[in-house]
Amino acid sequence: MSRLAIEGGSPVRTEPFPRRILIGEEEIEAVHQLLEKERTQGGGLDRYGGEHVDAYEREFAEYHGVAYATATSSGTAAVHAALGALRLDIAQEVISSPITDPGGVAPILWNNCIPIFADADPETMNVDPQSIAERITERTKAIIVAHLAGQPVDMDPIMEVARAHQIPVIEDCSQAHGALYKGKLVGTIGDIGVFSLMGGKHHTAGGQGGMVITNNEEIYWNAKRFADRGKPFNSEEKKNLFLGLNYRMTELEAVIGRVQLRKLDLVLEQRRSLAAQLAERMADLQAIHMGKVIPHVVPSYWLLLLRVEQERLKVPKEQVARALAAEGIPVDPHYDWIIYETPWFRNRATYGKSGCPWTCPYYGKEVVYEGTCPNARKGINMHMVLRWHEGYTSKEIDDIAAALHKVEQAYLK
Ligand SMILES: Cc1ncc(COP(=O)(O)O)c(C=O)c1O
Repeated sequence: MSRLAIEGGSPVRTEPFPRRILIGEEEIEAVHQLLEKERTQGGGLDRYGGEHVDAYEREFAEYHGVAYATATSSGTAAVHAALGALRLDIAQEVISSPITDPGGVAPILWNNCIPIFADADPETMNVDPQSIAERITERTKAIIVAHLAGQPVDMDPIMEVARAHQIPVIEDCSQAHGALYKGKLVGTIGDIGVFSLMGGKHHTAGGQGGMVITNNEEIYWNAKRFADRGKPFNSEEKKNLFLGLNYRMTELEAVIGRVQLRKLDLVLEQRRSLAAQLAERMADLQAIHMGKVIPHVVPSYWLLLLRVEQERLKVPKEQVARALAAEGIPVDPHYDWIIYETPWFRNRATYGKSGCPWTCPYYGKEVVYEGTCPNARKGINMHMVLRWHEGYTSKEIDDIAAALHKVEQAYLK
């Protein structure tokens, strides 16, 4: 058995993994043309005189087969605009996935509503539909589910319970562009789909950006209004209708996003094909497996979860991850993002020292978060995370597979 790199042996791989290159000639040409237009005619950067944000919205909606899309400046802004579009009263409850990005939860608090976390399915780390059902109260006015790491949440049971209680569902597709649930693209199953288009995602609007999609016309106009300071789009009013923010996307971002959207299918195909290759190469491992994929979904592999059977190994998962990293593999020991465990949330660091909205008299209840999502913790403890992108080749898959075999063999009980 060859000595592990972490113990002084030679690593499986010495050269770094390829960096993800997002931008090609087409994006450069598109930006060039836009700036040239601005230089020669003016108006190129103007969101309203400009054409690209509108076109990107149309193309994004078409890609998803929905009626409406409105662009925002980030994924966080998209979540906020989606909530703003629902015109929620303050001190209502919004159920959220427990493991997600802070940008998926902060808008609930900016809306002066109370996040309530449903627990996760430890096998996928995605929110557990049963737990959502259990945490609905008469105050629940929205549900936000995050499709984590590219794998769709099991949407049917969620939609069933949400419809029964007439609660709108927001799908946060930031990590799952192009993923399919029972043949449907994520973002098109709930009432609203939101996307982050920042540079780490499957496709990007020039480094930052977001999108809100829906088939509901009222939600669409409200999201668009909210993301533009309450502007009276599609209204008889001349001046702004309600409190909103400036969350608009720029033409510069949109012109890049449009090219990127045309490349999305290629990105998805490559990520899926690489995942399939790795799955085949890992089939004989005994303690480290591909993360579970639930039936009837096609993930889009933002990250690749690796399931570790701790009881079969002599060392903790963290040591396995360290050993893999020493072999030159881009692995993290976990995706540890239970929001209620983060300092800003634990310390209620929202508006000064007020503790609002939790302390809001309109709410009038105590919420306890700690320990309410034990399966989310279990899921995090069960999985390592392989950083993943479409620029890998069979060489990277060979090296990952070789390192996994080497490390597992060394640590198997
Ligand atoms: C699930 C999820 N929601 C929301 C966001 C926030 O998106 P952004 O960084 O574009 O604001 C992210 C960002 O990674 C995310 O992963």
